[in-house]
Amino acid sequence: MADEKRVAGKGRGDCLELFPVAVLAESPTPRERLSVSPGAIHVPGWLSLHEQRDLIEHCRSWAKPPAPMRKTILPGGKSMSVQTVSLGWHWLPYRYSRRAEDVDGSPVDPFPEWLGDMGRRAVASALNAEDAAEYKPDCALINYYDASAKMGLHQDKDERSDAPVVSLSIGDSCLFRFGNTQTRTKPYTDVRLQSGDLFVFGGVSRFAYHGVPKIFPGTANPQLGIRNGRLNITIRVTGLSDK
Ligand code: SIN
Ligand code: MN
Repeated sequence: MADEKRVAGKGRGDCLELFPVAVLAESPTPRERLSVSPGAIHVPGWLSLHEQRDLIEHCRSWAKPPAPMRKTILPGGKSMSVQTVSLGWHWLPYRYSRRAEDVDGSPVDPFPEWLGDMGRRAVASALNAEDAAEYKPDCALINYYDASAKMGLHQDKDERSDAPVVSLSIGDSCLFRFGNTQTRTKPYTDVRLQSGDLFVFGGVSRFAYHGVPKIFPGTANPQLGIRNGRLNITIRVTGLSDK
């Protein structure tokens, strides 16, 4: 499927352009692991540079047609500023489907086993080995933010599972707002997510409101090979079946 996509022509994923210059990463000083609220953990610098580059290459492939990356149209007719492509199950407002029903109707790319393994390792790092052992994700949403893209505060509640959400950040840094399970307003915590960072939210924080109010353009390490913008990969358990 990946090879088919590579020859299928230009898609929105072409925005993820190569930029072959070597300079320093944004934050040379170590940043601390932070428990933002119970079950919501920020692990800075979790992905190696090699893993980030590899994920970028995969994202370029996943972003191409069929079922290309695109801006989701919301029920009111407005489009999101973030561009999204799904693996395993396609997210559309506000449900999942095996096909990109609101794009070109094609089946989405399968959720790769290796990405599930990465999700389990992420849960083990952020939470614990017991939660990791039973973590069986079947879906990923890949979001691309250009310099002005944002995501409003929302809950991830279209899944029929309360398993943790694993979030990986690559490219430009962002302001990530992680709130409470009751309201879209305060109290919330603002965290700067940088390239390579892991954020996991599960347990009592699984249905907390969260969003991305701001991207910090030009903050990515150019060694990554992404010209501008931020990629976010969220790995999820939908709890859905084909039956
Ligand atoms: C999301 O909530 O789906 C994405 C969050 C992010 O981009 O960090
Ligand atoms: Mn979300």
